[in-house]
Formats: sequence, structure tokens, C-alpha cells
Amino acid sequence: MAEEKNKQGDETTSSNDQSPKPSRSRSTRGRQSSKAKPADHRLSRKVKAKSFVSVEANTTYIRNLKGKRPIVALTAYDSIMGSALSEANVDFILVGDSLGTTILGYETTIPVTMDDMLRHTAAVRRANPKCLLVADLPFGEASMSFDRLLDSSRRLMQEGGADAIKIEGGRDVADDIEKLVATGVPVLGHIGLLPQTVKAIGGYRKFGETREEAEAIYTDAITLEEAGCFAIIGEMLEENVARELSRQVSPPLIGIGSGDGCDGQILVTTDLLGWSCGQVPKFVKPYLNMNKLVSDALGKYIEDVRSKKL
Ligand code: KIV
Repeated sequence: MAEEKNKQGDETTSSNDQSPKPSRSRSTRGRQSSKAKPADHRLSRKVKAKSFVSVEANTTYIRNLKGKRPIVALTAYDSIMGSALSEANVDFILVGDSLGTTILGYETTIPVTMDDMLRHTAAVRRANPKCLLVADLPFGEASMSFDRLLDSSRRLMQEGGADAIKIEGGRDVADDIEKLVATGVPVLGHIGLLPQTVKAIGGYRKFGETREEAEAIYTDAITLEEAGCFAIIGEMLEENVARELSRQVSPPLIGIGSGDGCDGQILVTTDLLGWSCGQVPKFVKPYLNMNKLVSDALGKYIEDVRSKKL
């Protein structure tokens, strides 16, 4: 996940539309009122409040949401988070390798291992979420051999309990994704900023600001569509590029730091909750300040014990 502050705030108003517009040929719930109301009226009010959206734990559900309503995905790393997200009715949960930077104290996602991903995916699975559970393939696992990729995906599904896996990359991994999908492994693609490549690209930045890069991103997305990805994450894409991409590709494009033209949004939950010890990307709008709530509560408890109030 992109930790580095980026320039998106300024860039969203950019008139420099680099969006690719190529053809589709592939190159590549209260007390009841004492006033009498008919029983069925009360029932319908209750049903409306509770079942506004009913989430299903399969990739077809996610795919079919495209064009109907925005998809909402969030990350979870343990049972309590998985349970909270499921209760909140999120469309799908990603056990991201952002586990490394959010929970494990690493500076990047690169040190995250298969053992880490298996332990945390299994913890989220034990929360028994009612939505789809996707697990990230950690750094290097998709690059060694197809057999290694298949075995790591198998472990995330059989031992971790994931319903699907996420792989970073476009054209470079598309052939293997196609084979993986053919063996019955549902795959979530990930293009644009690929945090696992941060050492190679020299930092976190926006993608698709030049015509050339926008076209490369378009090719990546089309290739992943053809490989059979049920959805594609587009991280830190230039806004107009992301908007155009979501029009051009059939799988839903789930954005992160890519503007509001995508088919849905995914975010690192700890960033959203203001529960973090590192930098939070500028595009994140925090809905809570957990750091302060926790610090205030802990400080109060410690003070109460020291002053013998407890
Ligand atoms: O690792 C992660 O959490 C991710 C998402 C934020 C897209 O890759």
C-alpha cells in the first residue's frame, strides 16, 4: 500500500487527460409507537433497515455488481477485524500483504512471507465472514515457477481458507493467472502501483500520467481480463485513466487512490480508522481517530491505577 504522501490532491484536477481510448482488439433497527400501525408496515421498516444490501461470498456476485452499484472492499488481518468488516456488510475482505506495514511493523510489504499470510488469512477465516475472503500472494511467490505459484495459491485456499487470491502484476503474470484460473483458483488482479515493486520503482507514485504509461496500464488490464480475473485492483492510477479503464474492461476495476471513476473502492482498514503508526496516504479520508481514542483510554486507565482510583 502506498505509504508515501502523494500529489493526488493537486492532480485530480489535472486537465492533462492521458486516458487511453483504443479499440477492443487485443494486441496483446426501537420502541414501537403506541399509535396503532399495521403489523406488516412495522415489519417492512425493520427489513429495510437490516437487509439493504445482502452480500454473497462468491466472485460471480462481485463481478455482477459492476454497473449496478459501487463495490466496497477493505483489508483485515485478524479475527476481530474480519468480524467487524463482515458485520459492517463489506462486499469482500482482502487479507493484504499490507499486513507487513500496518501490523507487523515493516517498512514495506516485501518481508511478508507465506507463513505470515497463512496465519493471518486463517485468523480472518475463523471470524466466519459472510463475504468473499481474498488473500494476497506475498512477494516473489508469483515469479518463481507456475508450480510454486499453484502450490502457494493452494495453501492460501486450503490452509488459510481464502476464497480467492490476489496477484500483483499485469502482462508479466497474465499467462500464469490464466492457468491458475483454469485450475479453479479465482484471481483478483492488481495493476498500477505495485507495492511489492517499491524497491525497483524507487518509491510510491501515481501511474498513467503519460500517454505511454496509460497505454501500458490499459494493456495490463485487458490482458488480466482475458486471463480470467474476476476483478482488478487499480492502485494510484491517474483519475481519467482509471475512469476510462473501468468503462473499457468487463471485470470491475476496484480503485485505491485512483479517484471516483472506478467500479468500487478498496482501502487499508487501519488507514480508514486512523489506527496506524506510519504515514497514511493523502487520498485516505479517515472516519475515526483510533490512535487518539486508544491513547486517551490507555492514559486514563494508567492514571486511574497510579492514583489508586482502581
Ligand atoms: O496489500 C494490500 O492491502 C493491498 C490493497 C490495499 C490493494 O494490496
